[in-house]
Amino acid sequence: MLIIGNWKMNGSAESLTTFFKTFQESSDAEVQIAVAPPYPYLPSLKAHGASIFMAAQDCSTHAGSGAFTGEVSAQMLADVGCTYVIVGHSERRQYFHETDQTVLTKTQNVLSAGMVPVICIGETLEQRKAGQTQDVLAHQLKLMIQHIAKEARVVIAYEPVWAIGTGLTPENAEIQEGCNFIARTLSDFSDVTVLYGGSVNGDNASEIFGNDAVQGALVGGASLKPHEFQRIIDSAKRRTNFDVNAVS
Ligand code: PGA
Repeated sequence: MLIIGNWKMNGSAESLTTFFKTFQESSDAEVQIAVAPPYPYLPSLKAHGASIFMAAQDCSTHAGSGAFTGEVSAQMLADVGCTYVIVGHSERRQYFHETDQTVLTKTQNVLSAGMVPVICIGETLEQRKAGQTQDVLAHQLKLMIQHIAKEARVVIAYEPVWAIGTGLTPENAEIQEGCNFIARTLSDFSDVTVLYGGSVNGDNASEIFGNDAVQGALVGGASLKPHEFQRIIDSAKRRTNFDVNAVS
C-alpha cells in the first residue's frame, strides 16, 4: 500500500521537527509512506526520515529550467530527491484554474524527470447527485490514456471533491466502485496504483482500507497530526498483514 501525506500550505521548520519527534513509522516492503510538505521543507524531510519518501505537491508545466519566475520544475524536484509529485489536486484545479491539459503536461514532466505522478481526480457533489461520477472520472483520465505510455508507473488518487477537508466520506461501496472504475478504465496500463483521498483519518482508515480496490490513501489534514497519521499507517499495515495471512 502507499500512504501519502499532503501537508498543503501548512507547517514550519519547527513543526516539521516536532512532527518527526512523534512520528516514528517507517516504510517497509508492504506499506510505503510519503510526505508532501511545501517546497522549502523538502530537504529537511530527507534529513528526518530516511525511509519516508519525498513527495511534492505540484510542479511547473515548464520543463527543465528557464525564465519562469516563481516556478519549480519537475527536474528540480527529482534533483532534491522527490519520488512522487501530486498533480491535478482539486484545489489546484479550483483555485488555479488547472485544466486536464495542464494536468497532462505536468504528468509528462514528472515522468520525464523519472518520478511518479500522483494524479488526482474526482467528482463534485453536484456531479455525484446528477449521477455523473463515472463520466467525470473517465473524462479526467481521457488525455492521460491518449498520451501517457502504458508502461509508465502512475498513481491515481480518487478524491471526491466534496470529501476533501469536509469530514465527509463516501459510503464504502462508493469508494470501492470509484476505485474499481479507475482500475478498469486504466486496464491497459501495466503499473497503476489507485489511492482514495478525502477526509481519511485514524478512525475511518481501517474501514476504507477494507475495500480491496483501495491500494492506499492520499491524506490531507490528518497527515499534519503525527499520532493520527500513525494510526492511518497502522491500519494500512494491518490490512497488508491480513492480506498476507489470507493468502498463506
Ligand atoms: P483531507 O485532504 O484529508 O484533509 O480531506 C485530502 C486531500 O486534499 O488530498
